[in-house]
Amino acid sequence: MPAATVRKKVAEIMATTTLPVLFTEPELKLLQTLVYQECGMFFDERRAHFLQDRLQRRLKACQMDSFHSYYQLLTSREGKKEISALLENLTVNETSFFRNRPQLDLFQKKILEDLLHRKQAHREWTLKLWSAGCSTGQEPYTLAMMICDALAYYYLRNPLPFEMPSPRPLIPPPWRLDLLASDISYAALRAAQEGSYPESQMEPVDYTCRLRYFEKLGDRYAVKKSLKELVQFDFHNLKTEYLPQRNDIIFCRNVMIYFDEAEQKRLVEKFYRCLNPGGYLFVGHAESLFGLSSRFRMIHENNGTAYQRIEVPA
Ligand SMILES: C[S@@+](CC[C@H](N)C(=O)[O-])C[C@H]1O[C@@H](n2cnc3c(N)ncnc32)[C@H](O)[C@@H]1O
Repeated sequence: MPAATVRKKVAEIMATTTLPVLFTEPELKLLQTLVYQECGMFFDERRAHFLQDRLQRRLKACQMDSFHSYYQLLTSREGKKEISALLENLTVNETSFFRNRPQLDLFQKKILEDLLHRKQAHREWTLKLWSAGCSTGQEPYTLAMMICDALAYYYLRNPLPFEMPSPRPLIPPPWRLDLLASDISYAALRAAQEGSYPESQMEPVDYTCRLRYFEKLGDRYAVKKSLKELVQFDFHNLKTEYLPQRNDIIFCRNVMIYFDEAEQKRLVEKFYRCLNPGGYLFVGHAESLFGLSSRFRMIHENNGTAYQRIEVPA
C-alpha cells in the first residue's frame, strides 16, 4: 500500500477512535464525592479502577472528551438524567433466588410464624415487607413465594371463619400482603417487573416452586401473574430521608457493603424508624449491625441472622 494511503487510513482511524480519558486523582475524588452524596456508594482506592472504567464509559456515551465538560453536565440542572445513568452504571446488581438459605429459613420458620401469631392476637391482618435494593427481583419473588407457602401452612393450622374465594388466592383472607421492592437502578427495576429468568438463574428454585409460581415461556421461566401481583416495584434511593414507613420486616441485603461506615450508620437509623415496634431487619451474609447500632437485638439460629428492633425511650 502506498505511504500516502497508509497515512490517510491512519488519520481516518485516529479521527474515529476516541482514546479513553484518564482522570487525575483530584478529578476522581470530586466524582467520588458526588456519587457518595447522591447515593451513599463509597469508592475507596480499591474500587477506584472500577469507578474510572465506568466513568470512561459514560463519557463515551455522552460523546465527551474531558472531565471538565462531564462534571459541568453532572452538576447542571439538566444533569439529573446523566446522574441516574452514571449511578446505574456503578451499581452491582448481583443477586439470586433463595440467596442465603439459612437466613431465609429463619425468616420463614421462626420470624414469620411469630409475626403471624402476634398479628392474629391483635386482629391485624396486613403483613408489610420491604425489599430495599431488590436488584432484578429474585429477592422479593423469593420472599413472596416463601410467604405464600408459610401463610398456607399457617392457615391450615389456624383456619379463620372467612369465606374463601374461588379460585383460592395465594394469600388467604383476611390476610393481606403489602410487599414493596425498591432499587436505585431503573434497568434493574424493569427486569424485576418483567420477571423472566433464564434456566441458568433457576438452579436454586426447586421443581415444586417452579410448578407453582412460574410458567415456562420458550427457554425462560416467567413469574406467574398471581405471584407478580403481590410485589410492587418502585424507585427509592436509600440515601434520601423519605423512605417507606411502618414495615414489619425489611430486607436490605448486600447493599450496605458498598457504603462507608458513616453512611451505614445513617441507613440503619433510618431503617429503625421505618420499622414497626418489634419489626425485623435482615442484612447480607457479609454485613452486620455490630458497631453500627445498639437499637437492635440479634437473633442467630442455625447460621441464619436477623435483627429485631428494640424499643428504647427516645
Ligand atoms: C448486590 S445487589 C443486592 C440484591 C439483593 N438484595 C440480594 O441480596 O441479592 C445491590 C443492589 O442495591 C442497589 N443499590 C445500591 N445503592 C442503592 C441506593 N442508594 N438506593 C437504593 N438501592 C441501591 C443496587 O442498584 C443493586 O441492585
